[in-house]
Amino acid sequence: MTRRLSTARTAPRPGAAAAPASPWWRDAVVYQVYLRSFADGNGDGIGDLAGLRARLPYLAWLGVDAVWVNPHYPSGGADGGYDVVDHRAVDPDYGDVADVEALVEDARALGLRVLLDVVPNHSSDQHPWFRRALADPTSPEAGRYHFAPPSEAPPNNWRSLFGGPAWSRTPDGRWYLHLFSPEQPDLNWRDPAVAADFEDSLRFWLDRGVSGFRVDVAYGLFKDAALRDNPGSYSPTLFGHGPEQAMTWDQPEVHDVWRRWRAVCDEYPGTMLVGEVCLADLDRVARYSRPDELHQSLAFRLLKSSWDAAAFAEATTGALDAFGRVGAPVSWVLGNHDKDRMVSRFGGGAVGTARARAAALLLLALPGSAYVYAGDELGLPQAHVPEAARQDPIFHRSGGARAGRDGCRVPLPWNTAPGLGFSPAGAADPWLPVPAGWERHAVSRQAGEGGSTLTLYRRALALRKAHPALGSGAAEVSVEDGLLTVRCTGAGGAVRCVVNMGRSTRLVAGPGRVLLASTSRVRSSGSSLALPPDSAVWVTEG
Ligand code: NOJ
Ligand code: CA
Repeated sequence: MTRRLSTARTAPRPGAAAAPASPWWRDAVVYQVYLRSFADGNGDGIGDLAGLRARLPYLAWLGVDAVWVNPHYPSGGADGGYDVVDHRAVDPDYGDVADVEALVEDARALGLRVLLDVVPNHSSDQHPWFRRALADPTSPEAGRYHFAPPSEAPPNNWRSLFGGPAWSRTPDGRWYLHLFSPEQPDLNWRDPAVAADFEDSLRFWLDRGVSGFRVDVAYGLFKDAALRDNPGSYSPTLFGHGPEQAMTWDQPEVHDVWRRWRAVCDEYPGTMLVGEVCLADLDRVARYSRPDELHQSLAFRLLKSSWDAAAFAEATTGALDAFGRVGAPVSWVLGNHDKDRMVSRFGGGAVGTARARAAALLLLALPGSAYVYAGDELGLPQAHVPEAARQDPIFHRSGGARAGRDGCRVPLPWNTAPGLGFSPAGAADPWLPVPAGWERHAVSRQAGEGGSTLTLYRRALALRKAHPALGSGAAEVSVEDGLLTVRCTGAGGAVRCVVNMGRSTRLVAGPGRVLLASTSRVRSSGSSLALPPDSAVWVTEG
C-alpha cells in the first residue's frame, strides 16, 4: 500500500526568510503536564504550579514549543480534576491565579506557550450550580443540567464511560445525567447561561496570557434533544465511539459552540483550541477542525494501535486524509493520561522500550503537531499502583474489572535522591506511590547519557526544528511486510522515517545520511542500512 498525501503548509522555521507566515500551532510539539504528578513545589506530595514553573527550563532544554496543563481548577477530586467546581479559580493544591500568571510569564521568557484544559461537558457535583439545582428543582440552575422526574427506570439506556448507567438519583428521587462519574453531572448546553459562563471563563484565562485550551470531551456537550435510547446495548470505553452511541455524542449543534469559541480566540491573536474528540470515524473527528471551528482535534487512532505496521499505516494515512480534507494539521498522540504508557502497550521491558523509542521517531517526523505526554520522553512504563492506593473512578466503578489510569499518572522521577526529586527534601509522601527502582528512569540519569530515551527525544526535537521536511510539509506512507516508511518532504528536501515493525532485520535501500536512529544497532550493509526489528531511523534521501 502506498498513498500520497499532503498536509497544508506549516509554520516557517526561524530564519527561513521568505516563508509565508503560518500559525505556530500547526507544527508545534506540545508537552502534556499532568500537574499533580509533574513536580511538587511546596512539599505536600502533590505536583503544583510552583513545581511546574521551576521545571520550565527543563522543557525549554528538551525543545518543546508549548505546555498543556491538565485541569488546575478547584475540583471535587472525583476524576483527577475533571470535575470542576469553579472554572475561574485555581485549586489550592496547585497554587492560585497569580501562579498561573507567573507560569505564563516565565514560559514566555523561555519561548514556551501555555495551554490550559477547559472542561465544558460537565461540572463537579460540588459546583454551586449543581448544589443549587439539587436544593431547588425550580431554580434556574436546575435548567443547566439534565434532570428527569422520579420514575422507576432511568430515562434511557445510556451508559457511563466509566462503567454503569449514565443516570443516578438525586436525594429527592429525580434522575440526573452523568456520562462520566456520578460526581460529574452533564451540563445542558441548550441553556444559554451555560454557554455565556464558559465564554467568560475563556476570556478570564486568555486575559492572563495563556495561548489557548485543550477542550475536554469536545465531541459531547449537546445530547439528542429528546434523550432517545442509543440503538442497542453497549459497554463504552474512553475512545472510539461510533453509531452505537449516536444519541449521546457528536450532535450537530456542538459545532456552533466551536464557531463561537473560535471567534473569542480570534480576539486574542496567536491563541488556539485543541479538542478531545474520541470518535471512531476520523472524518467526523476532523470536522471539529474545520477552518472556523477548533484549530485542532486530537487524532487518537495511533494511541489505540497495537504494534503492527498495517495498523500504524492505516492510522496515519486515515488521519492525514481526513484532516487534509478540512485543511487542518493532524495533532498526533501516542500517549496521554488516559491510556497505558507506550512502553507497556507495546510489550513492556526491553522490547516495549525499543518500540516506544521507534514510535517516538514516527510521532516527531509526521507533518502536523505532536503531543508528548510527560514521562514518555523518559521511557516510563506503566507503573504498578497497589489497589489500596488507586484513585481512578474507572477502577472503582468497574468493581476492579478495569485497571484504571493511575499507572500512567505516577509522579515523575527527576533525580536519584530519596523521593526522586519530585518534592523538596523532607516532603510528604507523593500522592501516588512511585514504584521501586524508578530512579533508573530519572531525568538526571538520562540527561547526559548518549543512548538514553531522553537524549533521543531531545535530538529528535532539535532535528525537527532544524529540518523543514520533519513535522511539516507532506507525507507519503507506505507499508511492506512489517516495514513502515513515511517519506516526509518539505522545502529542504526529503526525510524518510522507516520503522521496522516486523520480526527480522530489514534493509533500507539507498539512504543518504542517517539523521537519527532509535537504536545503536543500525548497521551499514553495502549501499543499504540494516535496521533491526523494533527500531526506526530518519534518513535523508541518497
Ligand atoms: C477526558 C479526560 O482526558 C479524562 O481524563 C476525563 O476522565 C474525561 N474526559 C472526563 O472529563
Ligand atoms: Ca505541592
